[in-house]
Amino acid sequence: DWTIENFIEMEVDKIKEKVGNRNVLCALSGGVDSSVVAALIHKAIGNQLTCIFVDHGLLRKNEADEVMKTFADDFHMNVIKIDAQERFLSKLRNESDPEKKRKIIGNEFIYVFDEEAGKLKDMDFLAQGTLYTDIIESGTETAQTIKSHHNVGGLPEDMQFELIEPLNTLFKDEVRELGLQLGLPEAIVWRQPFPGPGLAIRVLGAITDEKLEIVRESDAILRRVIAEEGLEREIWQYFTVLPDIRSVGVMGDARTYDYTIGIRAVTSIDGMTSDWARIPWDVMEKISNRIVNEVEHINRVVYDVTSKPPATIEWE
Ligand code: XMP
Repeated sequence: DWTIENFIEMEVDKIKEKVGNRNVLCALSGGVDSSVVAALIHKAIGNQLTCIFVDHGLLRKNEADEVMKTFADDFHMNVIKIDAQERFLSKLRNESDPEKKRKIIGNEFIYVFDEEAGKLKDMDFLAQGTLYTDIIESGTETAQTIKSHHNVGGLPEDMQFELIEPLNTLFKDEVRELGLQLGLPEAIVWRQPFPGPGLAIRVLGAITDEKLEIVRESDAILRRVIAEEGLEREIWQYFTVLPDIRSVGVMGDARTYDYTIGIRAVTSIDGMTSDWARIPWDVMEKISNRIVNEVEHINRVVYDVTSKPPATIEWE
């Protein structure tokens, strides 16, 4: 009988037997798959697992702290947090091409991970959160052929590790059930998809600290309102984007010339196609008012009402 409980018991035994007294390394991103894989392997081998969590400075508000709280404080895992914000941001400065931004981030991630992994001794295995669908989809035409997806957590090609992929027979819903069973918080288990390049592809064009801050703050407000309204599970993905435009507004009796923020919220089954979410207008009004009032340099909020295709979910 296939149940999550039986799966955990069997996989824990398999992992213990495979690893023995050796050590496992895991690239933790805070996403559902890498979180569940880390929790499962930790259950099997405890502190023989070491996780590396790279903060590239392109995460959402409070995200790094939340990941550290869950895994280091609550689960007592060995988690090494790498503060690599400066490294990534300095490489990205002045780059406005979306694909080049992705490449820079993907490559830099591998350098940082490689460097940190090299400092650790006796790491024999690398854990990866590969799902069944990742295996059957690879090689077929996917969004990956349109945008090069550099998933944070990708495997550096020349590393000498044996792979452990305990989720590779599971579908996403089974992975979520597994995560809950392992005691992961709902905020992680039900986390919306978040691209590896993070906020870098939501500041359109060249990134500045100010623009990153605008997108991070407005995104936090959007997420808070969606949560307050209980709409989280109905919407596949929702976030803000900062186009490289400014427009005229009025504040008090002064004219402003400031940024426009875009809201993107979509329903989808798998991210391959999507429709724009019919968010109630009174919720839209709250989102818009709060962003304009609380985020400096925003004087206009627009809603993206395009499906995929022809648009993509992200704007870059
Ligand atoms: P698009 O924008 O292509 O996105 O409709 C489909 C899904 O993929 C995510 N996405 C990415 N994920 N690295 C990732 O790990 C990327 O470079 C990337 N680009 C888009 C997007 O958030 C959506 O869930």
